[in-house]
Amino acid sequence: MTVLVTGVAGFIGCDTALRLLDRGERVVGIDNVSGYYSTRLKQARLDRLEGRDGFTFHRIDLADRGALAAALDDTADVRRVVHLAAQPGVRHSIDHPFDYVDANLAGHVEILEYCRRREGLEHLVYASSSSVYGDTSRRPFSVADRTGRPLSLYGATKLACEQMSHCYSHLYGLHQTGLRFFTVYGPWGRPDMAVYTFTDAIAAGRPIRVFNRGDMRRDFTFIDDIVTGVLAALDNPPPAEAPHRLYNIGNSQPEPLDRLIGLIETALGKRAEMIMEPMQPGEVGETHADIGETRRDLGFEPVTTLESGIPRFVEWYRSYHGA
Ligand SMILES: NC(=O)c1ccc[n+]([C@@H]2O[C@H](COP(=O)([O-])OP(=O)(O)OC[C@H]3O[C@@H](n4cnc5c(N)ncnc54)[C@H](O)[C@@H]3O)[C@@H](O)[C@H]2O)c1
Repeated sequence: MTVLVTGVAGFIGCDTALRLLDRGERVVGIDNVSGYYSTRLKQARLDRLEGRDGFTFHRIDLADRGALAAALDDTADVRRVVHLAAQPGVRHSIDHPFDYVDANLAGHVEILEYCRRREGLEHLVYASSSSVYGDTSRRPFSVADRTGRPLSLYGATKLACEQMSHCYSHLYGLHQTGLRFFTVYGPWGRPDMAVYTFTDAIAAGRPIRVFNRGDMRRDFTFIDDIVTGVLAALDNPPPAEAPHRLYNIGNSQPEPLDRLIGLIETALGKRAEMIMEPMQPGEVGETHADIGETRRDLGFEPVTTLESGIPRFVEWYRSYHGA
């Protein structure tokens, strides 16, 4: 049996593929290696996968209609799909709206069409985001809450993906699980996210920009816990009577920005110079995952605290950058 992993050159996709290979699955990975951030980092992630038994890679743009089905012939034996490819980032969506239309909307429909036509396909697991909660005032964020008001185009496209998935499950009985990830960090992480940008700046002695004057809390979730959640979801397809399910995958422990900065300072042995700035458009003040249902249905239990995860990120950062 083969698992198709999209976004395999990405942060979460690469580690997901590695964990699947470790447990003996065959993995077909696809990615367009987009230039949104360092393609050198994406290639370095692919280097971790290339040469592993059972791994094949296709460089495909999901916005290229039909390219996926053409590349994966019937011999691929794809039974399960983990769809992680997307244009991420709240801030980038302010100035580059069509990147989100192509990768997230057209890309998601491309995957849905592939899955519904694929004989014997058992389960599609796809990435959603805490950004779908937008200005929801209730804490913690629960999948049972109404989520109709995202604050960024990124969040709006992720919400649209969930709705399109719901529709495909209803129409074609496609078994799907959508995972709302909460601020993922760790080794091989994304250079556009706070943990990486702060580490990079503090290490180089540059000031860091602290938005909303530091009055922000994020439910930082370590990559290993995220991948454990992805695999738990993949192994537990929803039942035929309710073929589409949604779960939060988060640490369920919102942390203030100053604590994050303090932990990075300690791990680097350097003090941060901070420039206080107002809230960025599209951002929310706090994220906090209610993981009650994820625990109950998938046995999901995050185990990595920010205190233990940040030194592991910084250690990787140093070795990757030769610092
Ligand atoms: N990292 C987080 O904190 C976080 C939080 C919430 C949701 N998510 C979601 O999780 C998924 C994975 O995120 P990530 O952090 O690994 O991001 P990432 O950018 O590292 O990985 C996404 C990958 O998708 C690829 N891609 C983009 N557009 C594509 C296209 N049109 N066709 C083929 N490949 C394409 C990119 O090249 C990239 O390698 C995304 O769907 C993202 O929206 C991530």
